[in-house]
Amino acid sequence: MTDSPSSPKDTVTLTNNSSGKSVELPLIAGTVGPKVMDIRSLYSDMDLFTYDPGYTSTGSCKSAITYIDGDEGVLLHRGYPIEEIAEHGDFLEAAFLILKGELPNDAQMTKFVTDISRHSMLNEQISFFFRGFRRDSHPMAVMCGVVGAMAAFYHDSININDPHQRMVASYRLIAKMPTVVAWTYKYAMGQPFIYPRNDLDYASNFLHMMFATPCEPYKVNPTLARAMDRILILHADHEQNASTSTVRLAGSSGANPFACIAAGIASLWGPAHGGANEAVLAMLHEIGSKERIPEFLKRAKDKNDPFRLMGFGHRVYKNYDPRAKIMQRTCHEVLDELGIKDEPLLELAMELERIALSDEYFIERKLFPNVDFYSGIIFRAMGIPTQMFTSLFALARTVGWIAQWNEMLTDPEQKIGRPRQLYVGAPPRHYLPLHQRG
Ligand code: CMC
Repeated sequence: MTDSPSSPKDTVTLTNNSSGKSVELPLIAGTVGPKVMDIRSLYSDMDLFTYDPGYTSTGSCKSAITYIDGDEGVLLHRGYPIEEIAEHGDFLEAAFLILKGELPNDAQMTKFVTDISRHSMLNEQISFFFRGFRRDSHPMAVMCGVVGAMAAFYHDSININDPHQRMVASYRLIAKMPTVVAWTYKYAMGQPFIYPRNDLDYASNFLHMMFATPCEPYKVNPTLARAMDRILILHADHEQNASTSTVRLAGSSGANPFACIAAGIASLWGPAHGGANEAVLAMLHEIGSKERIPEFLKRAKDKNDPFRLMGFGHRVYKNYDPRAKIMQRTCHEVLDELGIKDEPLLELAMELERIALSDEYFIERKLFPNVDFYSGIIFRAMGIPTQMFTSLFALARTVGWIAQWNEMLTDPEQKIGRPRQLYVGAPPRHYLPLHQRG
């Protein structure tokens, strides 16, 4: 990564037409992708801030973890295409890559799998903490609470200035998240918590904790475990999205890792972000039949109607989301394995996709299916309740959040995140005593 402009051409000159003041702003090049304009001196040189709500043109950090080319539909983790990672790797291998920057060798992989699995149990006291929630709580509400509360249970891994403690907290969060998610389900069902089994791979262990009961043996279906593993890979990281930026912002103040990840979970919950997978299924149910697709497309296009086609559109992808393609294939594999033929929701989804992709409104705005469009249908076929869909996203994204949090803390340019604003409130005025106010 080049840090300083290499030639005078690598600058942008900005002139304030009212004051006549000019400033040369350096352009910085990354490894691939567009250059960025370094505006750090703008306020001191020009007495100006930038205004960019939603950060549509703002790079908030340097990162070496994930690269997205939204126009081409490309997603790389540490340089490797998501398609290759999902095809040949497994989730913990992807996690190692995302966290540490390189694919592991045999010995590194064995050690990593052992280290993660040795942290899979939750402090027993946390099982009582679960019992404070209503049984019908939304799983994301329980996750926000339980993950935030982990800081109260793991005091030996909250010193963010100690690299060893940071690593232990990172491993704990990745290892324990499947247990947290599965236990939200068991608690809602009124079934006993099932403890992790470290002889199973990450995805199989999760499915086991979800669906086993103490009454009879439960054998994890390997095709479903592979599908779950692939879904986790597809959700593992996605550069500076809302929840990741939330984790970075929370972490920039020096907050402990459990608090930061709980903040990320809260941000992910929204329907414009991770909550979309749950919303897609609700939407497909609401549409109900292929005949009603035109009616809903009309609503999605109507500016006076808040309805949006859930699972469509993306801030960065202006092409097919590469994850959605893999998700669609996985969806067919899972339905075949389970012998589900003619799944009406899948047929409805495919027809909706076909019609939307040939509609002028969606073509013009480059609105394509995103990762959330097909994942819900897979989860549903696996027997996972709709309310839990977003918690599975959170489980997978924990890897990305942790990697980005670690990267931020070791970045020498790291500062507390503190955006400025365009103030549009009342101008200065004087306080009037109560009896003098009209
Ligand atoms: N249905 C109908 N119209 C849409 C949709 C949609 N799903 N998405 C965007 N548009 C329109 C929008 O109305 C606007 O039209 P116009 O230019 O005429 O005003 C144009 O497309 C650009 O939209 P935007 O809201 O400015 O785009 P954004 O980058 O701020 O929003 C988004 C991105 C993902 C929040 C949005 O596309 C959306 O709400 N999609 C539905 C929710 C969803 O599927 N979210 C999951 C995102 S991927 C996974 C994740 O991040 O968790």
